[in-house]
Amino acid sequence: MVSDPVVLGIETSCDETGVGIVKGTKLLANVVSSSMEQHVKFGGVIPEIATRAHLQAIQPTIKQALKDTNLELDDIDAIAVTAGPGLASALMVGVAAAKGLAIATQKPLYGINHLAAHVGVGVLNGEELPEKLGAVLVSGGHTEILKIKSLTNDISLLGATIDDAAGEAFDKVARSVGLNYPGGPAIDKYAKLGNPKAIRFPRGLTAGKDLERNRYNFSFSGLKTAVARWVEQRELDNEEIPIADVCASFQEAVADVISFKTILACKENGIENLLLGGGVAANSRVRILLQERCAENGITLRIPPFELCTDNGAMVAALGAQLAMTGAKPSSLDFGPDSSLPVTEIYVT
Ligand code: KG4
Ligand code: ZN
Repeated sequence: MVSDPVVLGIETSCDETGVGIVKGTKLLANVVSSSMEQHVKFGGVIPEIATRAHLQAIQPTIKQALKDTNLELDDIDAIAVTAGPGLASALMVGVAAAKGLAIATQKPLYGINHLAAHVGVGVLNGEELPEKLGAVLVSGGHTEILKIKSLTNDISLLGATIDDAAGEAFDKVARSVGLNYPGGPAIDKYAKLGNPKAIRFPRGLTAGKDLERNRYNFSFSGLKTAVARWVEQRELDNEEIPIADVCASFQEAVADVISFKTILACKENGIENLLLGGGVAANSRVRILLQERCAENGITLRIPPFELCTDNGAMVAALGAQLAMTGAKPSSLDFGPDSSLPVTEIYVT
């Protein structure tokens, strides 16, 4: 394998069709086509719709990434694709496309773990990943705290949500106060006008026995229900819903829980450097509170540019290139997508 391999990465685990191209640790292209607008009226991602959109977008997105870099398929040294976790049918589209490319071009193929790729994005543009590294990934599909000893062969899961993902909670709460999907940006906007202390919403698994049993795990389902009940009660009483206060108070609860649990996990697991990823990384309060609490605890927080925090193909290519550079054996061509691929499996063999 050449020293700085050119790797094309494909991501189709949720509603973004992403194709990225990297050369070693240098980002060359990052093209994303999202089907988010088609999910608005349903208030969440519908797998069949996402899958059909991937089928339509995959070829133009690959072409666009090649065009952006002035490269031909022949110039690519390896292909990488998200093998899981994610929506099974959506993953299937990327995996099938990547296999087609790999067979046609006779290039090695790496079936990549989506969560590990969210961490792998941190190497882009020459920034080495620090030691004693952890990551907190918060999106519509996942909420995890990871410990990374080695990006290419030692990642462990410290905690995860036991019910809803953080972004999912934003999306569902938005719906219960009449805001559109995706709920995160809308709640963030309204929260700026409200009082985060107006309503004390519950912080799941942060105290007593719950905390003991689920030290680094999250639960957002109780919070989501508490907001819905609070709003319903107001409606029954024919009272106006103070949307800004509800948004600010809900957002404060999420930011509080995410930062509390993450800092706890960092402190108890020797993590001194933390990477934040996923769409909820855009949330203004999550960023501020996590940054504040990291600083208080001597933890250095790194937040990649937003377009690299959300799902994209560049992160897949970045991890693929790292694997290729360490001489990892490519995946065998008979792997299938695995919707619940554990993070310990950094790539499929
Ligand atoms: O990473 P992403 O683009 O896709 C996956 O879900 O994998 O994340 C999308 C999620 C949605 O749930 C959306 O509501 C949330 O990220 N999000 C936000 C914000 N911007 C996007 N959540 C809170 N605050 C935001 N500003
Ligand atoms: Zn993701």
